[in-house]
Amino acid sequence: MENTRPCFQAIPVALCLLLGIGTAAAGSGSDPVLHMAGHKDSGVWVLCLSAGWYPEPRVLWRNGRGETLSPESEQKPRGDDGLFNVSSSLVVLENSDPALTCTIRAGFSGPERETTIRITGLFPRHAPEMTAFLVFLPVSLFLVPLVVYLFRKLQVLKEETTKEHEWRQILDKVSLSAAEVTLDQSTANPFLVLSADGRSVTCGILWQDVPKSYRRFDPLPCVLASQCFAEGQHYWDVEVGWWGDWATGAAWGSMEHIGAFRLSPDVGVWALQCQEGEWSALTCPETPLQLEPAPRIVRVHLDCTRGSLAFYNAESMSHIFTFTGCSRAPLFPFFLLWTSGTQLTILPPGQRKARERDRTMCTVTPKLGKRQGSVTELLIMPGQS
Ligand SMILES: *[C@@H]1O[C@H](CO)[C@@H](O)[C@H](O)[C@H]1NC(C)=O
Repeated sequence: MENTRPCFQAIPVALCLLLGIGTAAAGSGSDPVLHMAGHKDSGVWVLCLSAGWYPEPRVLWRNGRGETLSPESEQKPRGDDGLFNVSSSLVVLENSDPALTCTIRAGFSGPERETTIRITGLFPRHAPEMTAFLVFLPVSLFLVPLVVYLFRKLQVLKEETTKEHEWRQILDKVSLSAAEVTLDQSTANPFLVLSADGRSVTCGILWQDVPKSYRRFDPLPCVLASQCFAEGQHYWDVEVGWWGDWATGAAWGSMEHIGAFRLSPDVGVWALQCQEGEWSALTCPETPLQLEPAPRIVRVHLDCTRGSLAFYNAESMSHIFTFTGCSRAPLFPFFLLWTSGTQLTILPPGQRKARERDRTMCTVTPKLGKRQGSVTELLIMPGQS
């Protein structure tokens, strides 16, 4: 037996030598298999397995940066065929390089085989989405109320701006006092009789002996005011009374004064007319208006900026009619009296407010001041802005 043992051992060696390449191929073993055997300590236990090596192989572990890693354990069981199996294990820690290469070399300079793996997702590390979420969460917790706050703030600001705008408009109207309007005697048709203060005009029955003037209306029974308006907003109140045939509004100073023609914006007149109780706007063609009750005082509101001329019932502040696209040229308050006995009176600034206050004091509540009364009145003013 003593003799046979070396003989037995000699046989594979001889075979190897005889088979040459074949034996060498068998000796290079199989490709290493990297096997993750589970978690160990705070890392992952990786096994590198390979079979059929000769001579005894060496195992080399390296990471992605080429650094050599020392295995935790290594076994090289040798089979009956004289070939070595290799089992080497390594613990990969969470924060170590994820690339891992197991190289197995037969002897010191024999053929080698290697396998590389990348260990990712094995550790319960935060996925990028998770990281993003974890970053986003506190940010959003801070941002959402901020955005909500800013949004609310913006809305409040917007509301405030709108309210302020509305209030400014109302205040504009409130603070807008009636314009000083008096009649221009030199433009009055000879049938028209002007009061001494120039605020009232009556259509008489006699042709008065007045100086001739190219500015005097003839034969139309008209008269213009001495004042004209080219910019801003202005209003004046005209007491039209309960009866009579008249027209009032605004007109170009340069409108034709001589001759009979149809009054409309085409000839430079924007006016409201009442004839035999029928109200109409002197558009072309005329626009009939149903007014119930018929206004006693007509407010003429000229907005030069907008180019609009609006008429209101000055007592109820209900809207009557609005001309738009009025001339940007200076406009003069305009009055026409068709029939004898008809009278138009321009209320002096402050008078209507005084009257209104009286009315308010008597009928609504004694506490309402003049200004508050105006605000209330203007709040219900329709369609002007
Ligand atoms: C070596 O590995 C091969 C293939 O996995 C197996 O058949 C053989 O039994 C192993 N030998 C030893 C000694 O573990």
